[in-house]
Amino acid sequence: MTEQTRQLIEKLAAGCVLQLEEYQELIDTRDQEAAILLAEKAVDIRKSIYGNAVYVRGLIEISNICKNNCLYCGIRRGNSHCDRYRLTSEEVISCADEGYELGFRTFVLQGGEDPFFTDQVLCQLITAIKARHPDCAVTISMGERSRESYKKLKEAGADRYLLRHETADREHYGRLHPPEMSFDTRMRCLRDLRELGFQVGCGFMVGSPYQTSRTLAEDLKFIEEFQPDMCGIGPFVPHKETPFKDQPAGTLELTCYLLSIIRLIHPPVLLPATTALGTIHPQGREKGILAGANVVMPNLSPVSVRKKYELYDNKICTGEESAQCKDCLGARMESVGYRIVTDRGDIKK
Ligand code: SAM
Ligand code: FES
Repeated sequence: MTEQTRQLIEKLAAGCVLQLEEYQELIDTRDQEAAILLAEKAVDIRKSIYGNAVYVRGLIEISNICKNNCLYCGIRRGNSHCDRYRLTSEEVISCADEGYELGFRTFVLQGGEDPFFTDQVLCQLITAIKARHPDCAVTISMGERSRESYKKLKEAGADRYLLRHETADREHYGRLHPPEMSFDTRMRCLRDLRELGFQVGCGFMVGSPYQTSRTLAEDLKFIEEFQPDMCGIGPFVPHKETPFKDQPAGTLELTCYLLSIIRLIHPPVLLPATTALGTIHPQGREKGILAGANVVMPNLSPVSVRKKYELYDNKICTGEESAQCKDCLGARMESVGYRIVTDRGDIKK
C-alpha cells in the first residue's frame, strides 16, 4: 500500500469526504494491505453502531414478468426462454406469514416491472401484510413508478423502497439500458421516494460491463451526497440469455473493497451481503459481512418459483425452503462471530 493510499483511508475513517479523483485513486491503487486496513476501519465503525447484529430481510420475489429490457438482467422482456410467473396475493401473504413465524420483521416485495401490479393491487397487498403484522416493515422493490404511485404505496403503509441507481454515470447508464430507459427518470424516482418519506435504498452492480474506476468513483460520490438508508451492491454475474452473456463477472475482492468504503462514507447505512456475492464465492456473504456489510436477505419465495427468478446464472438458494435458508444464513453469520436478530432493523441515525 502506498503512503498516499493509507492517507486516503485514514481520511475516510476520520469522517472526511474525498474528492472524485481521490475515490478513483483509492480504487486504482488498491492491494491486499489496503483492503485489510479498510475492512478493519469499516468493521470498527459498524460495530460502534450495530454491534455484532446482522439484520435479516425476507425476500419475496413476487413476479418475474418485466416490461423492461435492461441489458444485464436475466428476466428482461427480451428473454423468451424465461419461464414467467406471478404470485397471487394469497401466496405473497402466506410467504410473509411463514416468514413472520421464522422471526422476520421486514419483508421485501421484489419483482420485475410487471404491469399487473397496479397501485391498487400493490396497495391492497401492502395493507394486508401491515394489518397482519403491524410490527413489521414492508419494503417494495418494483422499479420505476410515478411520484403519485409511490405516494399511494407510502400511504398504504410501505416503509422502504429499494431502487438501485445502477450507475451514477449518465453515459454508462446508457450502455447498460435500452434507449427508452433514462438516467434522469431513475434519479427522479430516487428523489421522489426520499421526499415522500420512504427509507430509500440505491445501489449498483460491481463489475458491470463498461464500468471503470471513474464510474465507480462517481457511484461513491453519489452515495456520499444522497446518503441512502440502504445500499445494495453485489457483483454483476452474467446471464446466458442476455446481451452480456460473455462478459466477465464482478469480483469478490472489489465488491468487498467497495463495501468497506461505503461503510466509511456513510457509517449508519444498511448494507447487504448479497446473494450475488454468495453466488460467485462459497463464503461470499460471510466475507461481505467481514468487510462491513450488516444485512442478509434470505429467500422467502415459494420453492416452486425460485429458479424462475433467475437474474443471473447459477443463482444460489433456489432449492431450500425458507426455514432452511434462514438457518443456513444464521449458521454462516455465527461462523464469523455475528448473530442474526429478530428486529425491523431500521437505520440508526
Ligand atoms: N425491477 C426492480 C428494479 O429494477 O429495481 C427490482 C428487480 S431488479 C432484477 C433488482 C436488481 O437486480 C437490479 O437493480 C440489478 O442491479 C440486479 N441485477 C439484475 N441483473 C443482474 C445480474 N446479471 N447480476 C447481478 N445483479 C443483477
Ligand atoms: Fe426488469 Fe430486470 S429487466 S427486473
